[in-house]
Amino acid sequence: MSIIKLHDKYFKSYISAQKIDETIKNLVNQISEDLKDEDTPLFIGILNGSFMFVADFVKKYHANCEVSFVKLASYEGTNSTGAIKQLVGINENLEGRTVVILEDIIDTGNTLQEIYKIFENKNLKQLKIATLFFKPDVFKKELPIDYIGLSIPDKFIVGYGLDYDGIGRNLESIYQLTKEQNMKNIVLFGPPGAGKGTQADVLKEKYNLKHISTGDVFRYNIKNETELGLLAKSYMDNGDLVPDEVTIDMLKAEVEKNPDAKGFIFDGFPRTESQAKALDAFLEEKGEGINGMVALEVPEDLLVERLLGRGKVSGRADDQDESKIRNRFNEYNTKTAILKDYYQAQNKYFAVNGVGSISEITENLCQVFDKL
Ligand code: IMP
Ligand code: MG
Repeated sequence: MSIIKLHDKYFKSYISAQKIDETIKNLVNQISEDLKDEDTPLFIGILNGSFMFVADFVKKYHANCEVSFVKLASYEGTNSTGAIKQLVGINENLEGRTVVILEDIIDTGNTLQEIYKIFENKNLKQLKIATLFFKPDVFKKELPIDYIGLSIPDKFIVGYGLDYDGIGRNLESIYQLTKEQNMKNIVLFGPPGAGKGTQADVLKEKYNLKHISTGDVFRYNIKNETELGLLAKSYMDNGDLVPDEVTIDMLKAEVEKNPDAKGFIFDGFPRTESQAKALDAFLEEKGEGINGMVALEVPEDLLVERLLGRGKVSGRADDQDESKIRNRFNEYNTKTAILKDYYQAQNKYFAVNGVGSISEITENLCQVFDKL
């Protein structure tokens, strides 16, 4: 899923390009069948919104046809103004013709009423109306609509030709208006030794976020013998990896425990693309999303130096052997690479220079956090 911002508003993905394609195929099948004995029907698209629909529709319509357009406008922002203006008219001689109107969306029906008016004295053989989308809850007219692609609830949509104040028409699929995302949710990444824990502590205070460290969540659930903790432990005791689902359920429980949080810093999670998708799906249900993945970048040689130094002081076994340390980096790099691709594809990946003093690194991180 994804949430996009157009002007001042947020929209979430709603109808896929594939679903639109199937819907158009169905419309073409019905209309082809009904018009099989007609010669050369004229398809008239209502501009601007219908340009994509008309293009895809006629590409799938395999008998002869003509194509033309009328340009009408009624919407301002996300509200219907009621008054329809005809900006480009029809020049063809329509007498005796079969005309099929191709509309992107029928909402109040004001535009449709205008369409019926435009064509009423043209001596057509027949006039048919086809609309890709229809909002039955707001349609106020007693006017026939012959073909309906999809009926949808009364929520403002954009994409596939439809706009919000001019933009969004070029989106391949349909997005639906959603409430503004309230939270700042960040996936924090950094190799072992990058100082992630230290930084997360500073950032959570500064931005009033809740820090969720998967390691801590696991330890808490196991120590307190919660249902999920016991489940996770049963896998671990058998030497098996804890399945994604269990980890995700623990994380969800942690998020649900903090309904008033301004957002979350996820640390040590997600680790796989399927976890990232599950997290997206979970946040989407709440009208939220991940704002960005922030990754601290530190050259490996410097990290090895830091960790060996730490090992000398702490005596931690895994911090004493250079080849073991390098192994942990390899594992980190492999895992991060997958997630980097996942978030980069949504323009949500941010690399931050992790070399310098603690406060310098905090400063670098804040520059990214402020933008998210
Ligand atoms: P109606 O005249 O109220 O039926 O509205 C029809 C026109 O309003 C459509 O051709 C669109 O241009 C616009 N419209 C209606 N609903 C939406 C929407 O959800 N998103 C974008 N445009 C819409
Ligand atoms: Mg329109």
